[in-house]
Amino acid sequence: MLDTPHPTPAAPCLDQQKLATALSGLHFIGGRYVPAVSGKTFPVVNPATGIQVATAAEGDAADVDAAVRDAARAQKEWAKVPARKRGALVHQCAALLKEHQEELARLIALETGKALRTESRVEAGVVADVFEFFGGLGSELKGESVPFAPNVLSVTVREPLGVVGAIIPWNVPMLLMALKVAPALVAGNTVVVKSAEEAPLAVLRICELMNRVLPPGCFNMVSGMGPECGAPLVEHPLVRKVTFTGSVETGKIVAKAASQKLVPVTLELGGKSPMIVFQDCDFAKTVSGALTSMRFTRQGQSCTAASRIYVERPIFDAFVAEMKKAVDAMVMGDPLDEKTDIGTIISQGQFEKVQAYIAEGKATAGATAHECSAMPSDPALKKGLFLRPVIFTGLDGNSRLVKEEIFGPVTVIQAFDDPEAVLAEANDSEYGLAASLWTNNLKVGLDLAHRLEAGLVQINQNLVVQANLSYGGVKSSGLGKEASLEAMLEHFTHKKTIMVNMA
Ligand code: NAI
Ligand code: MG
Repeated sequence: MLDTPHPTPAAPCLDQQKLATALSGLHFIGGRYVPAVSGKTFPVVNPATGIQVATAAEGDAADVDAAVRDAARAQKEWAKVPARKRGALVHQCAALLKEHQEELARLIALETGKALRTESRVEAGVVADVFEFFGGLGSELKGESVPFAPNVLSVTVREPLGVVGAIIPWNVPMLLMALKVAPALVAGNTVVVKSAEEAPLAVLRICELMNRVLPPGCFNMVSGMGPECGAPLVEHPLVRKVTFTGSVETGKIVAKAASQKLVPVTLELGGKSPMIVFQDCDFAKTVSGALTSMRFTRQGQSCTAASRIYVERPIFDAFVAEMKKAVDAMVMGDPLDEKTDIGTIISQGQFEKVQAYIAEGKATAGATAHECSAMPSDPALKKGLFLRPVIFTGLDGNSRLVKEEIFGPVTVIQAFDDPEAVLAEANDSEYGLAASLWTNNLKVGLDLAHRLEAGLVQINQNLVVQANLSYGGVKSSGLGKEASLEAMLEHFTHKKTIMVNMA
């Protein structure tokens, strides 16, 4: 145990490097910062400069066990706190997170390379919003009265599951954490979060901030590698629910381990989301919608990125030209600079993975790579993982670039003639997370919306996950929903039946 349980500044700290240093080498367990039992740490690198900015505690089964035991102890008391009061405390956390929005934005920009103005500040704001939303739902944890027989009172009550193990990735770590932690806590569970290797700092700071309001042990965070720290969390006998966001491959490992214990699991596993553009769309709005849909400001590192764009043939050439022009106008540069639209790829590994897809696309006969935006010229960013967005045309539906999740600033635009054929192509995917349709013909739009295999279909917009709207995919994109009241009830509580015979 550390002598000082709070080595980090109490007030919002806008010096992100100072905060990163203070957060170095620590988990947050049982209401206090602690180093790894083994004493091991691993580096946290700023992908815009290649410079190490902090270390993270390298947790293993021993740290996970300590966190889960604290969480299990705390859960017994937390479940006794009236649901509305739990919600009120979570609401109070939201207010604290709002006060720290700028600090969290700068910290997440530092560790992920996501631009402050277009991404990091937005994420920090949405995180507070998610906690605020769920904080208001405490009194919605209602049961039912069930007709059974005269003189028998039969009711159901919603009970928490116990300790929730939450595993999160690096692309929107604060938000994806919030979608799990907020409903879990309000429903009376306690939580152990395993952060992503690449981005442990901002979620650790949020954990500490929320522990100023919550009883100790309700919200714990460990950092470490997937197999050494994530797997023991999933396998821990006291973890009664697992919720995971990340790759399909790891999702399957997590689901298999959870099934061995017979505990419920929620999975959010990415996608290959189609965007279908009809010639009667509002052209300018759709071109700008394509930039948002592709999440270029997040370097395309989004599970809902519109990485397959189908455009009706008569407007195909014009659409490609205008989209390229619009992406060209985006500024790539220092994530902390207010002028920057596009920051960096998260890690060397992802950088190489995305580059391999781009090389494959370029080597495909008949394909054209439209490369956009200028690279930053600042010498301090020379080692940064900056990657120019690429729009491919001339690839066919069998290309790996059309089939696989690239998770980078790469999209493929194809022309279509027939709505039925494009629907079939859109559905010919192992994924089914999100889709968007762009048309002023709502009859066609709604018909296709009903027939698209996706958890979320939007017409004439393509927003990211929103509080209050159920979010989650079908097919390999996942299992279960997040972000809504129904998701909280379904995935973080169980329904107990109680019967009283009064005869
Ligand atoms: P990943 O799925 O391996 O990692 C996500 C989380 O799972 C991390 O916290 C990691 O430590 C943990 N993990 C890894 N192995 C584990 C295990 N055996 N047991 C328990 N937890 C484990 O994703 P990674 O390697 O960061 O990215 C690979 C690809 O996954 C990306 O290129 C992208 O295509 C996809 N991805 C999808 C995301 C989404 O939002 N659905 C987010 C991040 C990545
Ligand atoms: Mg992995």
